[in-house]
Amino acid sequence: MSVTMEKIVSLCKRRGFIFQSSEIYGGINACYDYGPLGVELKKNIKEIWWRSMVYERDDIVGLDAAILMHPRVWEASGHVAGFTDPLVDCRICKQRFREDEIPPAKWEKRQCPHCGNVGSLTDARQFNLMFKTHMGPIEEDASVVYLRPETAQGIYVNFKNVIDSSRKKIPFGIAQIGKAFRNEITPGNFTFRTREFEQAEMQFFVKPGHDEAKFEMWQKIRMDWYRRIGIRENKMRFRPHGSGELAHYAKAAMDIEYEYPIGWKELEGIHNRTDYDLTRHQEYSGKDLSYFDDASRERFVPYIIETSAGIDRTVLTCLIDGYEEEKLDNETRIVLHLDPKIAPIKTAVFPLVNRDGMPELAHQIAKELMGDFNVFYDDSGAVGRRYRRQDEAGTPYCITIDSQTLQDQTVTIRDRDSMKQDRVPIHGISVELKNRIQGKN
Ligand code: GAP
Repeated sequence: MSVTMEKIVSLCKRRGFIFQSSEIYGGINACYDYGPLGVELKKNIKEIWWRSMVYERDDIVGLDAAILMHPRVWEASGHVAGFTDPLVDCRICKQRFREDEIPPAKWEKRQCPHCGNVGSLTDARQFNLMFKTHMGPIEEDASVVYLRPETAQGIYVNFKNVIDSSRKKIPFGIAQIGKAFRNEITPGNFTFRTREFEQAEMQFFVKPGHDEAKFEMWQKIRMDWYRRIGIRENKMRFRPHGSGELAHYAKAAMDIEYEYPIGWKELEGIHNRTDYDLTRHQEYSGKDLSYFDDASRERFVPYIIETSAGIDRTVLTCLIDGYEEEKLDNETRIVLHLDPKIAPIKTAVFPLVNRDGMPELAHQIAKELMGDFNVFYDDSGAVGRRYRRQDEAGTPYCITIDSQTLQDQTVTIRDRDSMKQDRVPIHGISVELKNRIQGKN
């Protein structure tokens, strides 16, 4: 049985991965909250991204810039003038569309894709996707500030600060994870396109002329990263942007796409942004953002290769990629095959029955493991049902304490994917779990 978006939405609500924001008030469109399991999954993905970008390399440092920035930033970046989508209204049913999402045959007749009325669509007008708010107590034009639509600009405006304080030499990168906001005309497909989302972006500064090789290099590194968090290779592909679809800042762009239930769509964008951003900030701020290269004794404005991932979209991709409805003899098992490294709960501990000292021993084992892992203790219902609940949560290993445990100090570890159980001594269990999570067993 194939996975659908509806099945993922239902699992997310049922098990506490993702909820509609402000649900008790009827919800607010295109905003989502992460529940107890979702927040762990998201945190694990962010940690692995940070580790691969910042800790495992000596040429990238981190940054955490403010969401609100000087309004001139967005003039310099081109977002005030150019970060727009063509908005079309239906005069009859009042639905709104992006012109580029209306099938050409319908657009020619100005036919509404929702109510079908011919001649009911307005001309397209450019709609800026940035959220505006006001800084300070007086709402006037001079107080307008924007919620950042991408985290990248916080990195560009700190380029000099980072160079001066970290003494990094080009080529080097700055990595950041943070919220971004876009007033999307057509959000939807659950967390695929929302109005508030999190990005994990890295900007790699290079000497002009070295940009194309680094652009290639980063495509490979980023594709490998998605494999590392367990996404199936045959569900991903590269797609280069044609010249007509390039963003205003890009010389070249490559998407990493995933095959979602709604078709092949962008998971991450990798861009060659040239010296566009630093040159523009130099012009608008009046500050010198050039770099002096000691080795070649040259001064230049660096080119930027950007890797731009959506954290919410990656979470959704992991959920979709891992979802399986497996037919067993007389039931269907829903299982999330999440890579153990990103699984929200690493291990669940069960006493087989609630007597004979098993709960006490199970509690003690769970408590000891809690120092190292996110552990879940469960003693309610038949053990088979407890396994099923953990399968749905993506928990890779379940530890059961049974009557043999009381005699020989061994427990069973049950593997989520194979459902195979191995008996192991209690004293080595933490190392055993660590090895399994890291894929060493
Ligand atoms: N700094 C470049 C930039 O922002 P982008 O292609 O517009 O590039 C990068 O966005 C990534 O951010 C996308 O590949 C996607 O994963 C995520 N993203 C963008 N808009 C989003 C939205 N409305 N909802 C969820 N994720 C979004």
